[in-house]
Amino acid sequence: MAPAVDAPGSMYDNGRADFPAPPPNRQDIAMSYPVNDRQLIRDCEIGEGTKVWNFVNMYGCKVGRDSMIGTFVEVQGGVTIGDRTRVQSHTFICELVTIGNDVFVGHGVMFINDTMPPQPEKEKWKATFIGDGASLGSNSTILPVRVGKNAVVGAGAVVTKDVPDGAIVAGCPAKILRYKEGYGPKK
Ligand SMILES: CC(C)(COP(=O)(O)OP(=O)(O)OC[C@H]1O[C@@H](n2cnc3c(N)ncnc32)[C@H](O)[C@@H]1OP(=O)(O)O)[C@@H](O)C(=O)NCCC(=O)NCCS
Repeated sequence: MAPAVDAPGSMYDNGRADFPAPPPNRQDIAMSYPVNDRQLIRDCEIGEGTKVWNFVNMYGCKVGRDSMIGTFVEVQGGVTIGDRTRVQSHTFICELVTIGNDVFVGHGVMFINDTMPPQPEKEKWKATFIGDGASLGSNSTILPVRVGKNAVVGAGAVVTKDVPDGAIVAGCPAKILRYKEGYGPKK
């Protein structure tokens, strides 16, 4: 007989008495890592309090504490995601991406590291950094850039250049609409 989903030492044991794995017939609720056979999670470091939903494919990456990885997200090897960061469903986070703390990653955000595909030489791939407190709108495409802290990327934007701290950008290619209060060029 297969071990109970949360049996100590089983492949489903999440080691969290305060956040037990759900019974196998309840796949619709938030869950901790590693939990069930509807997730492909290999060689990841995942902080306490972080919830990973079903149908997530993540490998060789690090996620901090109290974060959330939504349904149908893929996180590739070497990616680092900070604390209290929320990655909404259907997002793809490729190698060479670093995401800070308190970041909101909307639904279906696509990160890019290979700007001239297919480029098999990985040393030609480029990195992306997302600053603390930034917000990436749904369906945005993030080319290899640095998005500043507390910046906002509009829905559907294609971000081709670095985004300054506190800037609100939108469009294809993304342009600065305005800055949040307290940010922007010094007058
Ligand atoms: C970019 C954004 C933050 C701007 O919000 P805002 O500052 O309130 O901007 P406004 O609605 O006043 O729009 C300002 C201008 O930018 C345009 N604009 C707004 N959002 C845009 C977008 N995503 N792409 C292109 N243009 C956009 C507006 O049409 C308007 O243009 P106009 O001046 O020619 O009329 C917001 O529209 C947005 O896209 N937020 C992301 C939402 C999201 O993805 N949420 C995910 C969770 S569901």
